[in-house]
Amino acid sequence: MKFGLLYDLVAFLSSILVRTPAPRADASDCRCVYGQSCWPSEQNFDSLSAQLSVPLIRPVPPASACYPVGNPSGNCSDARRNWVSGIWRSDQPGGYEYPNFETHMDSVDGSVSGCYLNTTLGIPCGRGSVAPVGVDARTVEDVRAAVRFAGRHNLRLVVKKTGHDLLGRSAARDAFMIWTHHLKNISYDANFIPEGGSDYETVPALTIGAGVQWKEAYAAAAEQQRFIVGGFSDDGSDGAAGGWIMGGGHSPLSTTYGLGVDNVVQFTIVTADGEHVVANAQRHSDLFWALRGGGAGSWGVVTSVTYRTHDLVPLVFTSINGTFPNPQAAQKAITEYINPHPKLSNSGWGGYSIFNNEILFIYLLAVNVSWADANATIHPFFDLVRNAAGPSNMDAFTQPFDNFYAWMDSLAPVPFGGVGENTELASRLVSRDVVAENRTAETARLFLSFDIMVFNLLAGGAASAFAFTAETWEEGASSDVVFQARQRVAEHVRRLDSISPDSATYMNEASLHEPDFRKSFFGSHYGRLRSIKRQYDPKSMFLVAEGVGSEDWNGDSTRPV
Ligand SMILES: Cc1cc2nc3c(=O)[nH]c(=O)nc-3n(C[C@H](O)[C@H](O)[C@H](O)COP(=O)(O)OP(=O)(O)OC[C@H]3O[C@@H](n4cnc5c(N)ncnc54)[C@H](O)[C@@H]3O)c2cc1C
Ligand SMILES: *[C@@H]1O[C@H](CO)[C@@H](O)[C@H](O)[C@H]1NC(C)=O
Ligand SMILES: *[C@@H]1O[C@H](CO)[C@@H](O)[C@H](O)[C@H]1NC(C)=O
Ligand SMILES: *[C@@H]1O[C@H](CO)[C@@H](O)[C@H](O)[C@H]1NC(C)=O
Ligand SMILES: *[C@@H]1O[C@H](CO)[C@@H](O)[C@H](O)[C@H]1NC(C)=O
Ligand SMILES: *[C@@H]1O[C@H](CO)[C@@H](O)[C@H](O)[C@H]1NC(C)=O
Ligand SMILES: *[C@@H]1O[C@H](CO)[C@@H](O)[C@H](O)[C@H]1NC(C)=O
Ligand SMILES: *[C@@H]1O[C@H](CO)[C@@H](O)[C@H](O)[C@H]1NC(C)=O
Repeated sequence: MKFGLLYDLVAFLSSILVRTPAPRADASDCRCVYGQSCWPSEQNFDSLSAQLSVPLIRPVPPASACYPVGNPSGNCSDARRNWVSGIWRSDQPGGYEYPNFETHMDSVDGSVSGCYLNTTLGIPCGRGSVAPVGVDARTVEDVRAAVRFAGRHNLRLVVKKTGHDLLGRSAARDAFMIWTHHLKNISYDANFIPEGGSDYETVPALTIGAGVQWKEAYAAAAEQQRFIVGGFSDDGSDGAAGGWIMGGGHSPLSTTYGLGVDNVVQFTIVTADGEHVVANAQRHSDLFWALRGGGAGSWGVVTSVTYRTHDLVPLVFTSINGTFPNPQAAQKAITEYINPHPKLSNSGWGGYSIFNNEILFIYLLAVNVSWADANATIHPFFDLVRNAAGPSNMDAFTQPFDNFYAWMDSLAPVPFGGVGENTELASRLVSRDVVAENRTAETARLFLSFDIMVFNLLAGGAASAFAFTAETWEEGASSDVVFQARQRVAEHVRRLDSISPDSATYMNEASLHEPDFRKSFFGSHYGRLRSIKRQYDPKSMFLVAEGVGSEDWNGDSTRPV
């Protein structure tokens, strides 16, 4: 089974299409970037370095290994072999899952700077949006020193963990980077007491450093015979304590256990003033609230996250896959598929699917139900899809597993398709009203008009599913080609929005072309988030595309508008 397929679609680019408006504020309000006279001197960097555990890093794009002039020690065969490996990319400070984020397109003249694996293109290797220098944080003190240094020199600052972000929020051209990758501590406490909490309310909790990736967090939880709500990719390279959690964090079991943000009990974070604080229900509870869905990269540098863990329970896996003989069959089957979603999610099913007019793959899990009960809820649905497509065109089965990890271990490892490709997403949450108002046929028609649709059952409440599609382009593409691909993404967003007007989307898997990110990512919470941002980050040190407060800045977050 390859869940990687879901992300075969995914990826992305950094800067924004809009032309930079003329600055209103004077230059001193601007962020200092590499190459400007305000950029710290080598002596400044040396004195920073003296406070750090390890030397400063000089991130480079992964493909620079193939350009000996800029990177004489680079190993190009290693880069070729690992180009599509999420692990290899996240192990490098200059590596991003989707290389378009390593690239930079100038918003004024359209020129592109990037570094491509295909050297025969004859394009010199450019640093693009990869920061030239940064701190490889090993301790909280390293993070504090880096934040104070960035504040003192008014630097454009970027925080990077895995580089998986689909809005390019962990890349920033000519910025100063804090790389959290090596903050790998993990500890389990069966009787965790949040700071300031009551001794009577202990939580069986796993505390992980900001650099921990899901494969590591799952291994640690499994060792304790505990389940933890986490992200899913087949190599487990996605980060467990960075963008995932601050954006919400969905898991295939979220219909039962909630999102990541429903399972956090405490953060530790270095704030813009360089202080290291605890944020939980008792301490800095406003910041705790903002960190649970207020968006990545906007609040400070998270140093650890403590998650509630759960008992291991059995689950039932179901898989449906096959081909449609014609578009009419696809229309019928997908209508039947969207229809029972609210019911499926109520009866504990969650997971992923991908389809278009030709193919259908569905992978769902139901937690803590007997095999017979799971069959009873899913078999009627098997019949509907089989009838729509023709029984011989669809395979469907259910299979019980002792627990989540047993299921994950059963999945065959596959090369991770989408990684290493330039892609942008367009997404929407699908409201339950679509079913209640009998608009499933219309919705199926819209979804089937895209080349490919990913349709995930990962939430509860008012959302019955989360849907996205994508556009991709070849490396080295001209700015015209990239611009056109992005316009198609913007159009996809508009079309998807029509199924649930005024609906929302999941910011961690979204587009830079949201008509109004404040509304679609944060809704009525935006005002409160703004005021918490003003309190904890009054000088807006932590800025990301489509993040809280970013509307006051240009596309590169270097200049107020
Ligand atoms: C292969 C793959 C699988 C995925 N699977 C899932 C999934 O199952 N569920 C899901 O919900 N999402 C999933 N996503 C989306 C994922 O949640 C986002 O890409 C998320 O932004 C990744 O966060 P990161 O910290 O790993 O990545 P990065 O790109 O390193 O960082 C993302 C953002 O978080 C900020 N950030 C990172 N660390 C810190 C920190 N310590 N303090 C402050 N800010 C920080 C960065 O500045 C940036 O703004 C997946 C993405 C990919 C590419
Ligand atoms: C380059 O990488 C390849 C494949 O990853 C490895 O086998 C080889 O030993 C490396 N060469 C050098 C000089 O490090
Ligand atoms: C690399 O670029 C050249 C020139 O555009 C092209 O002919 C070739 O097919 C490309 N190679 C790959 C592997 O994409
Ligand atoms: C990691 O754990 C070690 C051992 O408990 C501790 O000394 C160190 O301070 C921790 N590091 C961080 C960044 O929390
Ligand atoms: C479903 O997937 C399996 C495994 O990839 C494949 O062997 C089978 O042919 C597929 N079924 C249909 C009906 O396409
Ligand atoms: C699992 O089901 C059992 C029996 O119905 C119930 O007692 C238990 O609370 C459930 N556990 C979870 C995590 O839902
Ligand atoms: C559940 O359904 C599968 C087919 O999907 C069947 O093989 C299995 O025997 C059923 N299990 C129970 C307990 O009914
Ligand atoms: C739902 O809409 C379809 C047309 O799209 C119509 O045929 C059907 O009668 C409607 N069902 C209900 C319950 O309104």
